[in-house]
Amino acid sequence: MRRILSAGLLRSVGLVCGSLPYQASLPVGQHRVFALRFCRKSPTDSGNMDLSNMRKKYKSADECFEESQLASLDPIKQFGNWFEQASKCPEIGEANAMCLATATKDGRPSARMVLLKGYSNEGFRFFTSYESRKGSELESNPHACLVFYWEPLNRQIRIEGTVQQIPYQSSCEYFHSRPKSSQIGAVVSRQSSPVPNRDYLRQKNAELEEKYEKEEVPMPDYWGGYIVQPHLIEFWQGQTNRLHDRIVFTRPKDGESDLGEFQHPAEGGWVYQRLSP
Ligand SMILES: Cc1cc2nc3c(=O)[nH]c(=O)nc-3n(C[C@H](O)[C@H](O)[C@H](O)COP(=O)(O)O)c2cc1C
Repeated sequence: MRRILSAGLLRSVGLVCGSLPYQASLPVGQHRVFALRFCRKSPTDSGNMDLSNMRKKYKSADECFEESQLASLDPIKQFGNWFEQASKCPEIGEANAMCLATATKDGRPSARMVLLKGYSNEGFRFFTSYESRKGSELESNPHACLVFYWEPLNRQIRIEGTVQQIPYQSSCEYFHSRPKSSQIGAVVSRQSSPVPNRDYLRQKNAELEEKYEKEEVPMPDYWGGYIVQPHLIEFWQGQTNRLHDRIVFTRPKDGESDLGEFQHPAEGGWVYQRLSP
């Protein structure tokens, strides 16, 4: 009984506070104390949760992000500057984790996290299954948006662009650079398709581990990389007073040469401007 109650309380602590890491680290007896001290709000009977007091401090006014602080007027280099700082930040576990948004042909969006596996002037690369939900959405609508959020730095980067599959050979090279277990995992998983249960995957994994024990795992033809070729890159830095900094780089369309109001020339064919937060 006590166990059941604790589990229930645990769930509500997680729901109300959204602080799952605490659940795992608290000794059983302290859950109630924790819940009372930190979770003043609780769901009403209608399940309506009031989160209006959840708010964090961002940067102070003297730490704002001015145009003069851009590391480069080339947004790819500016991305590199922020990415390097995020990678070196000990509180950021996976600086290359990004949210990838795609949409169906008729504009219904979906989003999920993926890992950035490289970037250059050409674009931003990630790997996945071409048969997955994202893969089939990209097939019919090759536009995507990537978002990085590095919470300890109060920074967000948004990248919008068109998407292409990378050359087969480049995908193969990356595929075979992964640990063998990940290669087998990619063969086991027909990503985003329903399976009967976990055992089905476990068994398939075991069979393939045996099959490929001494052989190279062939890259499945439904697996590979994409590159997002950006036409917009926005750098956002949060301010406690909500006068956030937003500097957005866009690539004018072919033939467009006039600068818009408040637009400034940048490098590599880009222009930039500040947006209201
Ligand atoms: C931090 C993180 C990184 C991930 N990286 C990848 C990745 O690089 N490639 C991938 O296919 N899925 C990755 N996933 C899983 C995806 O979020 C998603 O579940 C999967 O790709 C299926 O998405 P879809 O059904 O929308 O196509 C990652 C998930 C997380 C939480």
